[in-house]
Amino acid sequence: MSAYDLVVIGTGPGGYVCAIRAAQLGLRTAVVEKRATHGGTCLNVGCIPSKALLHASEAFEEANHHFADLGIEVSGVKLDLKKMMGFKDEGVAGNTKGVEFLLKKNKVDSYQGTGRIAGAGRVEVVSEDGGNRMLETKNIVIATGSDVAALPGVAIDERIVVSSTGALALGAVPKKLLVIGAGVIGLELGSVWRRLGAEVTVVEYLDRVLPGMDGEVGKQFQRILTKQGLAFRLSTKVTGVEVAKKGAKVTVEPAAGGQAEVLEADVVLVAIGRVPYTAGLGLETVGVQMDNKGRIQTDSHFATNVTGIYAIGDVIAGPMLAHKAEDEGVAVAEILAGQSGHVNYGVIPNVVYTFPEVASVGKTEEELKKDGIAYNAGKFPFTANGRAKANGTTDGFVKILADAASDRVLGVHIVGADAGNLIAEVAVAMEFGASSEDIARTCHAHPTLTEAVKEAALAVAKRAIHV
Ligand code: FAD
Ligand code: NAI
Repeated sequence: MSAYDLVVIGTGPGGYVCAIRAAQLGLRTAVVEKRATHGGTCLNVGCIPSKALLHASEAFEEANHHFADLGIEVSGVKLDLKKMMGFKDEGVAGNTKGVEFLLKKNKVDSYQGTGRIAGAGRVEVVSEDGGNRMLETKNIVIATGSDVAALPGVAIDERIVVSSTGALALGAVPKKLLVIGAGVIGLELGSVWRRLGAEVTVVEYLDRVLPGMDGEVGKQFQRILTKQGLAFRLSTKVTGVEVAKKGAKVTVEPAAGGQAEVLEADVVLVAIGRVPYTAGLGLETVGVQMDNKGRIQTDSHFATNVTGIYAIGDVIAGPMLAHKAEDEGVAVAEILAGQSGHVNYGVIPNVVYTFPEVASVGKTEEELKKDGIAYNAGKFPFTANGRAKANGTTDGFVKILADAASDRVLGVHIVGADAGNLIAEVAVAMEFGASSEDIARTCHAHPTLTEAVKEAALAVAKRAIHV
């Protein structure tokens, strides 16, 4: 008999949530993690530390530039970067310790070391001191996540040329920060360092920021960030980064080709995406199939082509988001316990935690046009929302896209303060198959920012009240 019903490799949001759910359902479960702490990329070097720095740097900016508008006089506002980093580290430690506690509470055995699949039902754990042990198990879930995508010819030293990990732990505010990639990492961490005093230039290959999000959102968001002081070089490619005695020289040229130019920076952040992480797992030996992007190929039950081996999270297809990994973790645990776990990929919210925030769920206008789906759009600006006016946070809008025939909500896109929380109500509504009329007829508390969601729903049928 196998010692375990399930061994999960990797304890990021996908892996640890999967292990807890499996244990709740009575499966004898173990996890293998090569880091010293649980929580994966998200808790250690991703979601949590970036949000802690976004929160702290926003407070700094408020105190520096906005308190006076509220009639609060402060003087001598000073940055203590070391302390701010300590605040971030405390948030990380609180979260990773929390996961350790939850795994113990649920009686999940935890092995520290690198997991290698020695064959179906066998996971070898190699610890840092070279010692190893073999775990026997009925099923294996691979939840090994992702790693930073490299820019060919550009070496990341985490000092001058940094990935997100280095950018979350800089020892001083760079005078000039050059960010490669106007995706979510570039804009979140670019915002952090701009607020703390850096001159930030973002170089993006495409002709827009946040590709994949709704086009109108991208345009308005870029305008807002530019107003805040971020500089953008769109349709531009980086052809070389040369580390000098102090800082770096970055050669850029138009994406379509043309005159090269050299930009100087103290720190360069490479944020051009992430790639699935499968190194050291021994997948070639057991014959697990991968796709052409290096992701583990799975079916609708998260099963690979090898019996008893499953995969979830960043290492498989789909958005690289913590909550997507978590929901897949729950679903695969339920499937292994004989239930019918399921993830609705049509309703996965996507949030950028800048100020203002950007939040989106479902289809964009571009996707609906491409798919030939007729829709009605209802839009409401925060300039017309009472609470936003009272708070002085009027940048942005809510846009609801509803099917022209059935009125079913197909997508919602928000730029605005607290957009990440506002998107939750429409995600629930979409899970229940709501129409825009359902949202429009739901009583929303006054004065709240959520009234902008209701008004956007009313605007789908051209009957918004406050515009
Ligand atoms: P991971 O979290 O990457 O965890 C995988 C774990 O597996 C790691 O701990 C790794 O050490 C371990 N591992 C790998 N190989 C082995 C092996 N052979 N043996 C043992 N252990 C192994 N997403 C959001 O939804 N919201 C955010 O705000 C957000 N912010 C982010 C900010 C940054 C800077 C970054 C980089 C990412 C952010 N993400 C965010 C993305 C999020 O971190 C990932 O989508 C999420 O962590 C994926 O979870 P996962 O469980 O698949 O993998
Ligand atoms: P991304 O895919 O979001 O953005 C990368 C950007 O770099 C794109 O705009 C792309 O066009 C551009 N790019 C690619 N190659 C380039 C080049 N050679 N020169 C210039 N630009 C180039 O990737 P990012 O920002 O690195 O984040 C990785 C992933 O981490 C995200 O996709 C997301 O899944 C996750 N994440 C999520 C967060 C959240 O949910 N708030 C926060 C941070 C990360």
